[in-house]
Amino acid sequence: MLKKITRIAAVAAAAALVLSGCAATTADTDSAEGGLIGVSMPTQSSTRWISDGESIKAELEAQGFTVDLQYAEDDIPTQVSQLEGMLTKGAKALIIAAIDGTQLTDVLQAAADASVPVIAYDRLIRDSANVNYYATFDNFKVGVQQATSLLVGMGVFASEDSTSADGPNAAGPWNIELVAGSLDDNNAFFFFNGAMSILQPLIDSGVLVVKSGQTDIEQVATLRWDGAVAQKRMEDILVGNYASDTLHGVLSPYDGLSRGVIAALVDAGYTKDTLPTIVGQDAETASVQSMLDGEQYSTIFKDTRELAKVAVAMAVAILNGAEPEVNDTSTYDNGVKVVPSFLLTPYIVTVDNYKELLIDSGYINEADLVLP
Ligand code: BGC
Repeated sequence: MLKKITRIAAVAAAAALVLSGCAATTADTDSAEGGLIGVSMPTQSSTRWISDGESIKAELEAQGFTVDLQYAEDDIPTQVSQLEGMLTKGAKALIIAAIDGTQLTDVLQAAADASVPVIAYDRLIRDSANVNYYATFDNFKVGVQQATSLLVGMGVFASEDSTSADGPNAAGPWNIELVAGSLDDNNAFFFFNGAMSILQPLIDSGVLVVKSGQTDIEQVATLRWDGAVAQKRMEDILVGNYASDTLHGVLSPYDGLSRGVIAALVDAGYTKDTLPTIVGQDAETASVQSMLDGEQYSTIFKDTRELAKVAVAMAVAILNGAEPEVNDTSTYDNGVKVVPSFLLTPYIVTVDNYKELLIDSGYINEADLVLP
């Protein structure tokens, strides 16, 4: 809270300097020739966004830009006022990971009026024509991978290449529950729809059973991707449906939610040996540790260092009057237009390949893990 107030105060102070005609920039925005770029991230409560912010800043600074990096701690008005502050300080471009992709229309109009290009970072910004490009991952594929990995962990699929029930536990029936992300994040729909493209046929055929009956995204969503919300919902589901039955698998779209789900299951008496198969996303250190401890089964690795490079390249290209590279011009309709996008590739991580994908690539530090 204190940090948030300090940050808001800093933005206000910078705005006051502009209004009073004094130097419009802080010392750190004076040095580079490239000018100031505003980078707006949703929250520091998840390690992935901290890494994202650091990578974007480093990449921009390496190219001679100065950076105003702000975190809005999942508060929409804070994000809007931070963006306004960046425009007031003279940002030449904005790179934005939105908290609520539908709430930035006015501030993006102000950006457009000032000819400031906008890159949507990881999360699509909706309902605005003033989004120039979108840098993200193949989000539908993330969902497909999460469901596939869940089924491999449960033994319903023989391997990550399976497309039908061909594993040792193919017959079922197995009990699963579904968790989705925040409904104000466009990605939540892509992850859920990708996952359900794999799970729904098996629910229809009776191999998988969702005892709670909660299978619509509206029923299984988790506002602001909050792990405590997912934990509470799982507690209620366990009390209501699993007093005398066992849960075998949980689809979870984000490591922070998976950790909440695991906490609820452990409280209800599940142990390392009896926990259901649980998936996740983001390869957060705490969840890689959980995997090594035999709790979470898998996660999805999205190399945010690469995403940062793509987003920065887009912004720099626009500022240089060039066309950014894209590889998708059809998938991401934001309600006003299809936003030209560059989609990076996500990877399934289990204890079998985490070293190669996460440690050897330097994404996480082995010293931060307690190895079994
Ligand atoms: C991101 C995920 C992340 C989630 C919660 C989504 O928009 O794509 O990587 O797990 O937000 O922060």
